[in-house]
Amino acid sequence: MNASAPIPRPPKPLLTVTGLTKHFALKGGLFGQSRGVVRAVDDISFEVGEGETLGIVGESGCGKSTTARLLVDLISPDSGDIQLGGKLVGSELPIRELRRQVQMVFQDSYASLNPRLTMEDAISFGPMVNGMARNAAVRLAHDLLARVGLEPRRFAGRYPHELSGGQRQRVNIARALAFSPKVVVLDEAVSALDKSVEAQVLNLLTDLKAELGLTYVFISHDLNVVRYMSDRVMVMYLGQVAEVGPVDAIYGAPAHPYSRALLAAMPSMDPDRRTMEAPLAGDPPNPINPPPGCRFHTRCRFADAVCSMSDPGLYTMGTPGHLAACHLHIPASGHKAAELAA
Ligand SMILES: Nc1ncnc2c1ncn2[C@@H]1O[C@H](COP(=O)(O)OP(=O)(O)O)[C@@H](O)[C@H]1O
Ligand code: SF4
Ligand SMILES: [Mg+2]
Repeated sequence: MNASAPIPRPPKPLLTVTGLTKHFALKGGLFGQSRGVVRAVDDISFEVGEGETLGIVGESGCGKSTTARLLVDLISPDSGDIQLGGKLVGSELPIRELRRQVQMVFQDSYASLNPRLTMEDAISFGPMVNGMARNAAVRLAHDLLARVGLEPRRFAGRYPHELSGGQRQRVNIARALAFSPKVVVLDEAVSALDKSVEAQVLNLLTDLKAELGLTYVFISHDLNVVRYMSDRVMVMYLGQVAEVGPVDAIYGAPAHPYSRALLAAMPSMDPDRRTMEAPLAGDPPNPINPPPGCRFHTRCRFADAVCSMSDPGLYTMGTPGHLAACHLHIPASGHKAAELAA
């Protein structure tokens, strides 16, 4: 490396999540007694830097949406902390500030909108509840419609059923932006759209991020889309973080066998890049009763005795900020191949 080249510095953390945990009690047995708990999110920690996009990937049921709902306080954690801008939410920063500064866009564009509200009313509602005068809120709604590519004169008076899925999702984005958030959590926000419409909405999100200095948490089951959008990527497995790192490290040199299998199963645009890795077999085990030790050991072809006994925890790989939770990569972990991999 050129000695005078600046050392890349990670952005200042805007969101810092520490030990976040959410278990759901399963009721419904005879007399309504608990039938166990779903460990939807189980002690996860991560940061989102100011101005970056953190992608979150993992199979269905691994806890992506629960993480998203915790980030916007739609549900409360059992334990763990969230800091926003260095301030602890719930003590140094009121929860209502988290609710304003961190907004979410969901997959289902229709369910998110009240069928009886026009687009103008849908967008101006939040700011008015927060004390903005009606005239100002309506002006803001028109500005935001224009920003998301919907001509206000044509769209302000329309109802949700008069819009296409892509247009409704643009309104949902405008509605999130009406709170002047710092962070937008996008949970499968483009997943229901046709590919061409999806590309347009992704480009809109990229433009808005640059114009407004936003920070994104971008959740999708589509690994190609996450690669396109993200600066860093977090791979979740059964409520935990399996691996996290810069997008190039995760896609170019994934360390965790689960990430490798997930990527190997991804449809590649380029036939030369198809890997020899065995695709993922079987369904993920149930988060009601996750396996002990490394949660992936029941499906991992590198599993060794230590894997079912001890939880590896996140360990730093070669690239700065690249961490993986796998005994293979932890020297002296007791895994018989650990030395070779290290
Ligand atoms: N409100 C709830 N009550 C009970 N179980 C839930 C609830 N929400 C999510 N879960 C369970 O938690 C796990 C994680 O779900 P979710 O966060 O939606 O995963 P993902 O978004 O990655 O598909 C799943 O097993 C799911 O069934
Ligand atoms: S810790 Fe063991 S079971 Fe888990 S991913 Fe690594 S090698 Fe596989
Ligand atoms: Mg989900």
